[in-house]
Amino acid sequence: MFKILEANELATNIFQMIVEAPRVADACLPGQFLIIRVDDEGERIPLTICDYNREKGTVEIVVQAIGAETYKLSKLKAGDELADVVGPLGKPSDLCEMSVEELKKKKIVFIAGGVGTAPVYPQAKYLKELGVDCDVIIGAKTKDLVILEDRFKEVCNLHITTDDGSYGRSGMVTKALQDLWDEGNKYDHCVAIGPMIMMKFVCKLTQELGIPTVVSMNPIMVDGTGMCGACRLTVGGKVQFACVDGPEFDGHKVDFDQAMNRMKLYKTEEGRLFLKAQEGDTHHGGCGNCE
Ligand code: NAD
Ligand code: FES
Repeated sequence: MFKILEANELATNIFQMIVEAPRVADACLPGQFLIIRVDDEGERIPLTICDYNREKGTVEIVVQAIGAETYKLSKLKAGDELADVVGPLGKPSDLCEMSVEELKKKKIVFIAGGVGTAPVYPQAKYLKELGVDCDVIIGAKTKDLVILEDRFKEVCNLHITTDDGSYGRSGMVTKALQDLWDEGNKYDHCVAIGPMIMMKFVCKLTQELGIPTVVSMNPIMVDGTGMCGACRLTVGGKVQFACVDGPEFDGHKVDFDQAMNRMKLYKTEEGRLFLKAQEGDTHHGGCGNCE
């Protein structure tokens, strides 16, 4: 069992938890994710890691209650326990493979949309610890949905934008990126993490601006284990699975329209049957356990 040490509501329906999980904390790197099960009957929930503390043996997660399992998770309090915390899973961010010299030569911008702000934090913090500067654009619908502002301020140059203009700049993250570019910020590396539609339009813009862009495809994961086939996507014409081959991919090569359409279809039995007929075995590796 994994004890919850802290549980807070960061914004309406967005919850932060610090969980005791020493082995995960010891091994995880920015960009990776966890699978959580609230109780023995619970379904697996793949969640990106928001922060970790190796000394204390803790990991931090941020979750939006959007379904039965995440709602159940959001109701837990400090002192409660989770049945499973498995990880770290997925490949770490590309940034972790670059040398400090390489990183220092880059002008890096992170685009953090809504709840996707949480997985951006460990990447910005990682760079700060290496002495590498970066810009972060946080986009939220309204002021009260901006999360982790103070913590970001400690690790990056922070730009906030709200869709309704209630805080920071006004408009979506794409407008803020274009404005910052026009103001002279010639970025040469972008990491965009947020809703699929946001990542699609950020990639469209960064393609025009010529900024290589990495995206995190966590939103299409279901079980996060390479077994269910839900997170199948096409990257540069090649079939990939977000949970085992990612979660981060070259955003300019991702077929977002196909991934978003497939995500909708995967939600119903009828849709899954359609995908099976269309794609054959939607399973990742054909492990023989599909039945
Ligand atoms: P949201 O709908 O409030 O959007 C956040 C920001 O994204 C907006 O403020 C806007 O600036 C930008 N955005 C939205 N649509 C856009 C468009 N068409 N063009 C340009 N910019 C656009 O976000 P939310 O409700 O907090 O997000 C929840 C989503 O985030 C869920 O779908 C979840 O799956 C996803 N998420 C993704 C990751 C990841 O790893 N990619 C991690 C956590 C959550
Ligand atoms: Fe099920 Fe990737 S989430 S195969």
